[in-house]
Amino acid sequence: MAERVQIFQGVRAYGDEVIHGCFSKVGVGRLKGLVSTTTTFIFFFFLLIAALLNRMDIRGTSIGQSIFDSRTSKTYHERIEFPLNCSNSVNLPQTCPENYPSVFQPQESSARTCPDYFRWIHQDLKQWKSSGITEDMIERGKPSADFRLVIVNGKAYVEKYNKPYQTRDVFTIWGILQLLRLYPGKVPDLDLLFYSGDKTMIMKRDYKGLNATSPPPAFHYCGEKAALDIVFPDWTFWGWAEVNIKPWEETLRAIKKGRERIKWEKREPYAYWKGNPYVAKDRVDLLKCNLSDKNDWNVRIYKQDWGKESQQGFKHSKLEDQCTHRYTYAILLLME
Ligand SMILES: *[C@@H]1O[C@H](CO)[C@@H](O)[C@H](O)[C@H]1NC(C)=O
Ligand SMILES: *[C@@H]1O[C@H](CO)[C@@H](O)[C@H](O)[C@H]1NC(C)=O
Ligand SMILES: *[C@@H]1O[C@H](CO)[C@@H](O)[C@H](O)[C@H]1NC(C)=O
Repeated sequence: MAERVQIFQGVRAYGDEVIHGCFSKVGVGRLKGLVSTTTTFIFFFFLLIAALLNRMDIRGTSIGQSIFDSRTSKTYHERIEFPLNCSNSVNLPQTCPENYPSVFQPQESSARTCPDYFRWIHQDLKQWKSSGITEDMIERGKPSADFRLVIVNGKAYVEKYNKPYQTRDVFTIWGILQLLRLYPGKVPDLDLLFYSGDKTMIMKRDYKGLNATSPPPAFHYCGEKAALDIVFPDWTFWGWAEVNIKPWEETLRAIKKGRERIKWEKREPYAYWKGNPYVAKDRVDLLKCNLSDKNDWNVRIYKQDWGKESQQGFKHSKLEDQCTHRYTYAILLLME
């Protein structure tokens, strides 16, 4: 999330997801979200050609998690049919049946492999490999957390410590509830701390030295080399109500439809970027690439006017309406 990159302290931006739609958010942007970094960052300007989406296989699961693999990859993941069967009426709140199954036995073939990005969990948990995670570590981590999530027998319990920005916690917890619904009987009991701010919280430097205590494990939307925060998909997978971003599956569907509106050849032959430049220095630098009297690098940069957009219900911020240019910029934050 752009807000993670807070170079300008004190700027309370509306949390600006890179608004660029069409291709880059599909797969690539999301995947990198899992390994993005806060303060140490290498900015990659990816020029993704419009055809990119066509080369990709996006297999979404109903929890909004999209498993992405390119056609060149040999690994394919089977689509599991979930037992979830809830009403999805436009006018009524969504309801699920009372007699919801408590076990889930999907037909899994033995050849099934985990998506490649699963390997990162070993990296993220390396710190606790020899010590394990103790109750004491969790207790000591409370001051760094916004909430604590405990799952016992498939039921989620939440203890709140701080009020997170907007509804990040609500959507994150909603994601967890969906997970429990989708995999009844499959989610083990757990006890975890969660932090929902922009900047990494558990810094390695604070847990060094002779008398150092062991760091608390805290889940968070971002991590970086200097920190021990354990990365977790950010809330926008399930939605971002304040800026009218729907759950990822719906967003993906809308983008796929949106890109049909103008044929690639008919689109503006430029690279497009829209967002809030004032949350990171590199974004401000990007403004210099815009069309000017002196240069035309075939780049068109647009500022997201959050104030105006919020008054108009974010009608002009829809990702699916931004498939107007042939190329798009994705500013990816990668692990060093
Ligand atoms: C889902 O529920 C509806 C209405 O109760 C029912 O008609 C339908 O057969 C169910 N589908 C599955 C896959 O169970
Ligand atoms: C570690 O703790 C001991 C005993 O409390 C103290 O004497 C020593 O100075 C501490 N060392 C460091 C590096 O803080
Ligand atoms: C970039 O250039 C385009 C085309 O001239 C213009 O419409 C747009 O407002 C410029 N963006 C910024 C951030 O100045």
